[in-house]
Amino acid sequence: MDVQGKVAVITGGGSGIGRAIALRLAAQGARVAVADIDLGAAQRVAAEVGGAGFAVDVSELASVTALAEAVRARYGGTDILVNNAGVASTGRLESMNDADWAWLLGVNLMGTIHGVTAFLPQLRAAGGAILNTGSMAGLAPDAGMGGYGTTKFAVTAYTEVLADELADEGIAVTLLAPGPVRTGLGASSRNRPEGSAGGLVDVDLAAGDGGGLPWLEAEEVAVIAVDALAEGRRYAITHPDWSDVVIRRHRAIEHAFAEAEAKAEAAAAGPADGARVSERG
Ligand SMILES: NC(=O)c1ccc[n+]([C@@H]2O[C@H](COP(=O)([O-])OP(=O)(O)OC[C@H]3O[C@@H](n4cnc5c(N)ncnc54)[C@H](O)[C@@H]3O)[C@@H](O)[C@H]2O)c1
Repeated sequence: MDVQGKVAVITGGGSGIGRAIALRLAAQGARVAVADIDLGAAQRVAAEVGGAGFAVDVSELASVTALAEAVRARYGGTDILVNNAGVASTGRLESMNDADWAWLLGVNLMGTIHGVTAFLPQLRAAGGAILNTGSMAGLAPDAGMGGYGTTKFAVTAYTEVLADELADEGIAVTLLAPGPVRTGLGASSRNRPEGSAGGLVDVDLAAGDGGGLPWLEAEEVAVIAVDALAEGRRYAITHPDWSDVVIRRHRAIEHAFAEAEAKAEAAAAGPADGARVSERG
């Protein structure tokens, strides 16, 4: 897809990766609608890209449907949907209460689903493209971020199946799976609804042990994301040197299959002599 002249909607576009994708798409000639729960942030980025800023809470379907209508009214349709809004406070699974789960699942998973539900009619009419921001934590889970990883694994599954289901219609669907990126994500609860406090806490992801991680700037991630989107690729990988964490997980699963196969073969070969004796005895 040539993004020149296309209408792109970016959720979570007021900060970090979303803002950088908005700048990158605009630099390539796209007309950009920046949507965020923080309207001021959306409007500031919209001013940077010469686009329009919108308020949206992606966890509410009605809010995303209203966004889709507002974008249609302003631009006539949508060619590119970037489902990027996300939150990532941290904590052990046992520390999470229902409010934590509702918030993380509502923004990260349901927000992605709501974007597709609300915008698919416009994307179909345009022969458009979708980019969903998942995470490396949706390909291999991270200790201390089990809630976040649970939502991002679900985004991976949703995106892969969506890509298969929309392929015949010529709508490309890309999963962006970033590793560590310097953004506002470590202060996610700044946009958490009041009264929904739980056990999760904000952690400066780049502090302490995290300081040694291979941090990228959001602008570097945006180049990778927009290239993958334009080329209609299934995955946009930002940290190719981190393949080992995914490969290790897949090897452990392959090993479990091999063990199960060995057990099934042993069972098919019949019980051992000792077992036969005890069965008869
Ligand atoms: N930063 C990283 O290291 C990293 C790594 C992997 C994946 N990601 C993903 O990248 C995406 C963007 O995050 P970021 O790192 O740029 O963080 P960020 O905090 O800088 O940006 C996230 C944006 O989402 C907005 N937002 C939060 N809740 C919302 C809601 N309910 N409705 C609409 N907008 C909402 C925030 O206001 C913010 O502008 C997220 O999906 C995140 O999970 C980030």
